[in-house]
Amino acid sequence: MAVQNGPTHGATRTILDDMVGVGDCVLLDPLTEDAFVENLEKRFRAKDVYTYIGNVVVSVNPYKELPIYGKDKIEEYKGKNLYELPPHIYAIADDAYRSMRDKSRDQCIIISGESGAGKTEASKIVMQYVAAVSGKGKDIDRVKEQLLQSNPVLEAFGNAKTLRNDNSSRFGKYMDIEFDFKGDPVGGVVTNYLLEKSRVIFQSKGERNFHMFYQLLSGGPDLLLEELQLTRNANDYTYLKQSGCTNVDTIDDKENFAKTQKAMQVLGFSDEEILGVYKLLAIILKFGNIQFSTFTSKNGMEAVKITQEEAMNDICEVLETKKNELLESLTKRSMVGGRGDQVVTTLDPSTAVYARDALCKAIYSRLFNWVVRVINESIKVKLNPSNKVMGVLDIYGFEIFQKNSFEQFIINYCNEKLQQIFIELTLKEEQEEYVQEGIEWTHIDYFNNAIICDLIEKSNTGVLAMLDEECLRPGKVTDLTFLQKINSHYFISRHPHYDSRTKLKSDKTIPHDCFRLKHYAGDVTYNVNGFIDKNNDLLFRDLSQAMYKCDHLLLKKLFPEGDPKLHNKKRPPTAGSQFKNSIAALMTNLLAKNPNYIRTIKPNDFKKPDEFEEDIVRHQVRYLGLLENVRVRRAGYAFRQLYELCLQRYKMLCPQTWPNWHGPAKTGVTQLLSYKAIPAKEYAFGRTKIFIRNPRTLFDLEEWRRQKMEDIATIIQKMFRGWKQWRWYQEQRNAAIVVQKRTRGYQARQNYLKQKAAAIMIASYWRGTVARKEYKRLQYEKKLLWAVVVIKKFFIGWRVRKEYRKKFRSNAGPKVLAFLIRRLQVKYLMNVRANLPSMSPLDKSWPECTPLRKEANEELRQIFVKWRAMKYRGKFDENTRHRIGEKVSASNLFKDKKELYPPSVAVPFEGDYVRIKNNIKYKRAAQETNDQHVQFCDVLAKLNRSNGKAVNQLFVLSTSSIQLMDSKTLERKYRIPLSEITSLSVSPYNDGLFALHLNKTNPNNKKGDFLFVSAKVVEAVTKLHRCIQQATNKAITVEINSKFPLHFNGSQIQLNYQIIDKNSTRPEPVCKRKGSRFDVVV
Ligand SMILES: Nc1ncnc2c1ncn2[C@@H]1O[C@H](COP(=O)(O)OP(=O)(O)OP(=O)(O)O)[C@@H](O)[C@H]1O
Ligand SMILES: [Mg+2]
Repeated sequence: MAVQNGPTHGATRTILDDMVGVGDCVLLDPLTEDAFVENLEKRFRAKDVYTYIGNVVVSVNPYKELPIYGKDKIEEYKGKNLYELPPHIYAIADDAYRSMRDKSRDQCIIISGESGAGKTEASKIVMQYVAAVSGKGKDIDRVKEQLLQSNPVLEAFGNAKTLRNDNSSRFGKYMDIEFDFKGDPVGGVVTNYLLEKSRVIFQSKGERNFHMFYQLLSGGPDLLLEELQLTRNANDYTYLKQSGCTNVDTIDDKENFAKTQKAMQVLGFSDEEILGVYKLLAIILKFGNIQFSTFTSKNGMEAVKITQEEAMNDICEVLETKKNELLESLTKRSMVGGRGDQVVTTLDPSTAVYARDALCKAIYSRLFNWVVRVINESIKVKLNPSNKVMGVLDIYGFEIFQKNSFEQFIINYCNEKLQQIFIELTLKEEQEEYVQEGIEWTHIDYFNNAIICDLIEKSNTGVLAMLDEECLRPGKVTDLTFLQKINSHYFISRHPHYDSRTKLKSDKTIPHDCFRLKHYAGDVTYNVNGFIDKNNDLLFRDLSQAMYKCDHLLLKKLFPEGDPKLHNKKRPPTAGSQFKNSIAALMTNLLAKNPNYIRTIKPNDFKKPDEFEEDIVRHQVRYLGLLENVRVRRAGYAFRQLYELCLQRYKMLCPQTWPNWHGPAKTGVTQLLSYKAIPAKEYAFGRTKIFIRNPRTLFDLEEWRRQKMEDIATIIQKMFRGWKQWRWYQEQRNAAIVVQKRTRGYQARQNYLKQKAAAIMIASYWRGTVARKEYKRLQYEKKLLWAVVVIKKFFIGWRVRKEYRKKFRSNAGPKVLAFLIRRLQVKYLMNVRANLPSMSPLDKSWPECTPLRKEANEELRQIFVKWRAMKYRGKFDENTRHRIGEKVSASNLFKDKKELYPPSVAVPFEGDYVRIKNNIKYKRAAQETNDQHVQFCDVLAKLNRSNGKAVNQLFVLSTSSIQLMDSKTLERKYRIPLSEITSLSVSPYNDGLFALHLNKTNPNNKKGDFLFVSAKVVEAVTKLHRCIQQATNKAITVEINSKFPLHFNGSQIQLNYQIIDKNSTRPEPVCKRKGSRFDVVV
């Protein structure tokens, strides 16, 4: 058991390797208290704070951070066997966790030890380990977070600074963590034991009240403190200041407040509940400040009153209750008299203070229980209840003080019970193993403490039963009557573990008001003072009723017995019996599980690192019963190990088993032990394990092994060196071979390449020579062939000429030439005929010809064009011919000279735009002047000669004259015979202005030249030109210029154009006369 690797783990490393002192105290030899403490010290100094006793971990508080925790270490210990690595809480936790997960065995980890020895830290290490190695996932992580967050809340409410420990747990805690079949945590349950509630009202010098009070005052926001009517200064509160210690260097209350509040939120405390909790803490502090004084009441009786009544207003406001009722409950006491009627008595100041303190203690302890209930509600398993549980018990260790009271009695009783479990389970396991292995059961010499448990808890006769009996007894009951009672009790007084002054009259170490119990861990003298009171644990009914009446959120839940409707006169169970019951439940719970122990020890009283005070440790070793532990553990055989592993470890001690044993392992071990001449009584053979009675034997084996290992090491060294040299030689040889191989290969390759290149060269020269020879031959052949053909041709020519010379006449040459020329001309004309262009005058195409016929070709083309035009014209009627004639005239006059011309080409010249030819009145008038053949008629603008202003007039051009008429009345204004017109002038621009220059010599024309503007200027001028030519048989000039002279009333005027917008398409120009200038702006 002590040194054992699982058969599945082939590793041979054990805690026996690299061990400082003895890693497992089961192997201590000799087994004495001195050796035990010395071993712990040796290991402590080497920073090995953990030591095993079998599978129990003894942990010595290092009081400093050691690099043996954290993720990496957890990984190191994960899945390893207990003895594979140095002792550690992780190893125990891993063993327990895997046993629970893989073998479905519920586990419990029992952590015990003195205050400040590191129990709570150890429990957190266990929880962190389990959280780290178990599965992950959203829900699992939430559960883990809640389980871990329960610690700060419980510590805030249940821990306090004491002289021994700055974070001392003032309650016992057992937490069951529940896991699903995969080993993932799904929830848990916390059970709390016996909170030290007296701390609420009193703390020794240098100690503090529970952390939560200081956290609230330091960390609570201003608004909250205002609402609670609290000040930040802890010295303002009697319950906090009396010990003279409010601040602790190692504690940051403000930061812890935030942590606690966050943890409460994670655990599902609502905001109102958290505020309700703060309110209760506040009123406890306020109650603490209340003082009482006496006065004489109206009926002359002494009575008590609260000195600062106004302080009560704040309390009542926070508690949401009536002041009177609260005052009454604090200063008076009502009792049911003998005849059932109610009797009210006033309290004296000391009783009032006692009642007030009792109330505060009750509020706090009940509040604590309520907090635990809420935590449990939050972490309880929500889905299918699981069946795998790991419990962690962080409970107060054995306590022996100068003065031991009821609390120590209860705590030590609890430790007796735990020792009982330890003995029962360990021995059971031991026995089971012996039976399994077929080893004969030998008597084990150890102390069984069941007898002490009986002394305390036996019903009807135990000390607790006697205490209860005394508490319930009518008549005057005091602590001393209780002592007398147990002193005279037949069972207790004669019990070997009970002593008192009455029993041992001469023993002055036992005072008269004390009794002494001989616990398994040492003798403890208890002072009976306060036993009755603490066991009764009663609160005046008036107070619980007053609390019940408050409207505060939690008080009705905390004081259910205050409900006036309840008439339960039954006394509540005493503190002793309650504790006994809860411990019995705990024991049942633990007994159903596989126990794992962590025993914590503190090395000094000053919380100092690196200080190991032997006496202090010895004291703890004694009362923790650690030697008892070892003894029980070692009962029978100290050491056992599987045959295979034993053989593996020690086979080098015997030539038959070294280096390999091929037979059954058991026979090998037998060989080995007999070879080493170990006496037969020192060991026993089990079915699978060898059992060694004495650690000495094991150490002998270890020592021989160590010596042998040195020899083996030399052999290994020798072999290794030889092997190394051999390897070196092999490597060198191989390297040389490789180099040689490579060089030869390289040379051969180079050689080959040279030969190959030479062969190719020779071959190519040879092929070249052959090819050149062949080429020359072919060339010669070709020349011969050509010569043959030439000779043949000449010969044939010569023969033909000779043959036909006589048949040709001398002029045959010119004839042949004329014939050839004719043939070529015919060919040309045939080509022209075949490729003649179409009949459209627009078609400009003409067949191509050789340069020889260029001239003839051009002539032919012109003939064709003219002919085609003639044919085209031949198709016109008279009208069309006339119209075309006009268009041709317009072209002759204006093409490329006036900008207005191009747009006019496509517009037909209509001539009579106002249909005047059909006008009867005109017809009639025209007959007289021979103006009936109208050529052009339109309304156009006549420009005034004096200012250039335009006046619309009807312009009628006939074959003989121009008439200007009123456009509406057709009244004739002017008639200008065409013969009078000498010339016409227009501009080259886009405008429609034209001038008629008249014969100056005719006196009829004395007004001078006319200026008109018409959009149809091209048509008007063209027609005018043609009509004048027809009428006079001579062509007048049409001047196109940007300036021209005008004659108005006998004087010469110069008309000038000014161009502003060259692209304007407006035909009407802006005209202005200025003296002898006439400006036209276009
Ligand atoms: N493993 C450890 N490594 C470093 N310091 C430790 C370790 N264990 C305990 N301590 C230190 O010792 C102090 C007391 O430890 P802890 O509160 O666990 O004692 P305890 O046994 O629970 O005491 P109590 O019975 O008063 O609650 C811790 O606050 C811490 O400073
Ligand atoms: Mg603790």
